[in-house]
Amino acid sequence: MSMYSLDTGMRSSVPELIRRAEIEGAVLSIEEIEELLTIADPAELDLLWQAANRVRAELIGSDIWMRGLLEFSNVCRCNCLYCGLRADNTGITRYRMSSAQILAAVDRIAKAGIGTVVLQSGEDPYWTAERLVSLIEAIKRRHDMAVTLSIGNRTESELAEFRRAGADRFLIRHETANPSLYKEFHPDSTLEDRVRQLRALKDMGFETGSGCLVGLPGQTTADLSSDIALARELNVDMFGVGPFIPHPDTPLREASGGTALMTYKMIAVARLVLRDVHIPVTTALSTLEEEGREKGWARGANIVMPNATPSPYRAQYELYKNKRCIDDTLEHCLGCLSRRISSVNRTLGYGRGGSLKKGGQ
Ligand code: 5AD
Ligand code: SF4
Ligand code: FES
Repeated sequence: MSMYSLDTGMRSSVPELIRRAEIEGAVLSIEEIEELLTIADPAELDLLWQAANRVRAELIGSDIWMRGLLEFSNVCRCNCLYCGLRADNTGITRYRMSSAQILAAVDRIAKAGIGTVVLQSGEDPYWTAERLVSLIEAIKRRHDMAVTLSIGNRTESELAEFRRAGADRFLIRHETANPSLYKEFHPDSTLEDRVRQLRALKDMGFETGSGCLVGLPGQTTADLSSDIALARELNVDMFGVGPFIPHPDTPLREASGGTALMTYKMIAVARLVLRDVHIPVTTALSTLEEEGREKGWARGANIVMPNATPSPYRAQYELYKNKRCIDDTLEHCLGCLSRRISSVNRTLGYGRGGSLKKGGQ
């Protein structure tokens, strides 16, 4: 920062800000994060992409890790306003995979050499802690792989049971760090609960993943910068950002949704600010743009989550319409992703791809 800008309190220029974040590892203020998110000049955007890509290369190398995403139940007791799985949507076919079906799908993930299964569902009351514990234990007996849960809000005692059963990681996006927006879109929970859960998970030794939606109605760039700042405060191991895609059978059907550009900016700025975290390219991003994965990987991301849910269920896990790969098999998607990874001169990560804060093991 020049003396001049110190004297006047003027904000540093965008290239200077990017340089401070990249080279000096400066802890950016919320206002500075927002300044990066509002970049519109193509040359400045290029600087942002390149800086994020260098930080990723330096801290992680060329590996892209896969997580096998298994959507084992689309039953949900909640009514998040943006989500196609919300309880009040009677327009989708509900399913619950049996334990045998889940284990068979996990076997396929393991056979493909993927070191992590993400067990994702709506907030389904059928899946009590007891049932989930049995499932986690069965997976751990069969495979040396990381188990990630993505099942929404749970009590602390349930979380402790999952941890004891061997669950390694837990994903629960905070969705938006603006408490009033959170309240507007989530009738069943509060931001405070989410944040409390993310902290409790860390204390219990889970690797945690949070993240947010981009483009919720009324969401500002200041809100998005708070999303990154909250992830920094929570010291998360993974940060997932996806564009909100309006679903026609939800109250937000008329909304315009998030853009791919803002999602890339969130990925790149998150890489500069959060540093040693895993950042996935989300299915929602690749739904908006065919090249979303390649661009995301070139702008800070290092993870992809191929869908391992068998047919017909994968089409029925309809968070939004036109989700990618609903007619494909896991094996087909893995071929597709391997080609895409090689085409951008990156490599497939082997093993679990654990927290980068613990050396990635
Ligand atoms: N568009 C994009 N993402 C969505 N999610 C739910 N509904 C939508 C939608 N319409 C995301 C939420 C949730 C994750 C599993 O899916 O952020 O955390
Ligand atoms: Fe249920 Fe999750 Fe959809 Fe909310 S976002 S309605 S908790 S599946
Ligand atoms: Fe499924 Fe490309 S990732 S077809």
